[in-house]
Amino acid sequence: MNAPTMHGLNIQAPAYVKNARLIAWVADMAALCKPARIHWCDGSQQEYDALCQQLVDAGTFKKLNPAKRPGSFLAWSDPSDVARVEDRTYICSARKEDAGPTNNWMEPAEMRATLNPLFDGCMEGRTMYVVPFSMGPLGSPIAHVGVELSDSAYVAVNMKIMTRMGKAVYDVIGTEGEFVPCVHTIGAPLKAGEKDTTSWPCNKTKYIVHYPETREIWSYGSGYGGNALLGKKCLALRIASTMGREQGWLAEHMLILGVTNPEGKKSHVAAAFPSACGKTNFSMLVPPAAFDGWKVTTIGDDIAWIKPQADGSLRAINPEAGYFGVAPGTNYHTNPNCMASLDKDVIFTNVALTDDGDVWWEGMEKDHDGKLPDHLIDWQGKDWTPQIAKETGAKAAHPNARFTVAATNNPALDEAWDDPKGVKIDAIIFGGRRSTTVPLVTEARNWNEGVYMAATMGSETTAAAFGAQGVVRRDPFAMLPFIGYNMAEYFQHWLDMGTRIEKIGQTALPRIYTTNWFRKNADGKFVWPGYGENMRVLKWMLDRLDNRATGQQTAFGVAPTYAEINWSGVEFTPEQFDSVTSIDKAAWAEEMKLHAEHFEKLAHKLPAEMLEIKAELEKRLAA
Ligand code: GTP
Ligand code: SPV
Ligand code: MN
Repeated sequence: MNAPTMHGLNIQAPAYVKNARLIAWVADMAALCKPARIHWCDGSQQEYDALCQQLVDAGTFKKLNPAKRPGSFLAWSDPSDVARVEDRTYICSARKEDAGPTNNWMEPAEMRATLNPLFDGCMEGRTMYVVPFSMGPLGSPIAHVGVELSDSAYVAVNMKIMTRMGKAVYDVIGTEGEFVPCVHTIGAPLKAGEKDTTSWPCNKTKYIVHYPETREIWSYGSGYGGNALLGKKCLALRIASTMGREQGWLAEHMLILGVTNPEGKKSHVAAAFPSACGKTNFSMLVPPAAFDGWKVTTIGDDIAWIKPQADGSLRAINPEAGYFGVAPGTNYHTNPNCMASLDKDVIFTNVALTDDGDVWWEGMEKDHDGKLPDHLIDWQGKDWTPQIAKETGAKAAHPNARFTVAATNNPALDEAWDDPKGVKIDAIIFGGRRSTTVPLVTEARNWNEGVYMAATMGSETTAAAFGAQGVVRRDPFAMLPFIGYNMAEYFQHWLDMGTRIEKIGQTALPRIYTTNWFRKNADGKFVWPGYGENMRVLKWMLDRLDNRATGQQTAFGVAPTYAEINWSGVEFTPEQFDSVTSIDKAAWAEEMKLHAEHFEKLAHKLPAEMLEIKAELEKRLAA
């Protein structure tokens, strides 16, 4: 057979790829990017193993000691390529106002003119992987498929874990089906005969670009996480949020968990916390020993697609198939389910390597009576000892070091995690990271007040994104970096969802809660014990849903009394409780000024309800 070629490049698609638009697009992109070869991923285990071996041979992966960590690998990124790059992320809608004041924007034609020369020849000397993936169960009516072209084998193997990736996706696409085209390059072409000498090639120039109207994603220059695994933040949040707005559903930065009480009643909770603010931990929560008969199970740890049903209920699915989670801080005390998930078949990025070929990160010493390892190789390949750490402050693992692991590794995986119908959401939580001001938990008086609390949420920035850390910024719905359109219109979309569901009137809207696990004392220490102890707050929420707790009215809705929280098995005094729940009027007066500033930025399309609720809250605060 004569395979079609282009400048000597074989561009013949496998026989099982039957979509002419897809085949033509791959050919077009190959003509632009000029890879040395094309690899059509089939998603098989053999392919995964071969690509991992190839990454080991190239020096990108280190194979971990199979006796300690079977089937697992460690990658160290370029020190400049360790997190999402929000200032290089663009929403290129036709009109600037459709991207809104919180997104970077460039006119689509201008962006294409900028990117085309960068992509021209960007894959020279490298392989272009064609990675077909489904976000959501294969073939499910709520799932959406994409195809990512990437010159990174690291991306291909991570996509295999994070999504339903492989051949079967082509059956879903068929001859006429839709798919979101995603193009990714590390932006490091090789000259003829040149061998790759860097273990993590990338480019100083970075562009993470979304065209919401035509539903295309182009990513240049980074190999890291949310910049490069385009099914995750780019498709499942930025592009999906625009789909959800058009089609009447929600794409959210939320974990989904199931919680079963001792009587066997099961509820489902979705929770939005900003990046590196506790979603993975909360989704895998192990209730304290005193909570006999309680069980928490994971449906998802990062993204939820929530769709209203004919009966007015909201059902949610996790579009992902794996976890790309924060390693530092994870240990058997804080998150035993997560640690068990990491026993085998894991890709670690930017953690430290132990002398016996295993991994280590800050926080693991808690599992060893506080003892630090005598020697490590840190995430930058340098020697690390407790002494060096003390003298230089060097971290063994990068604060945004991550693991990639299949959901099926999680011992607390919910039986419905893969159910195409999703699960019915009973409560929604929004929680920021705030050392001061914001109380442990409050329940909004109604849907719109909940939307207000989410819309004005502030949070201290973390290592999950490039830039200054620990700075309070407004991060509405934990979605600041992920809304694919105008934020003010996104608020309106949430208000509209409530109105629509209330009209149906058969099922109550989920209650909305706000939380803050991160208040600190004068010594700068977290007061609330957090992690598994968050079950105590979760139970109070469920008690509220079951009319078993009355709570007390505060300026910001209903809050628990000390007596309403189950304290068995923990020492937490009423004074400590007061220090995480008290509302400091002066601090809140300052906070309300920040709400005002935030709303001024969004004034152009801000729903009138936001200002009305603000005025009501201010009245309550003054009372
Ligand atoms: P992304 O994957 O970036 O979206 O993060 P995430 O929201 O899933 O956050 P994750 O659960 O990975 O937690 C991030 C960091 O916060 C880790 O270092 C955790 O140890 C820490 N953390 C999580 N939950 C709590 C908590 O309840 N209290 C405190 N003090 N820290 C927590
Ligand atoms: C986040 O930053 O919220 C993450 C990690 O979940 S990344 O995939 O890099 O977006
Ligand atoms: Mn996230």
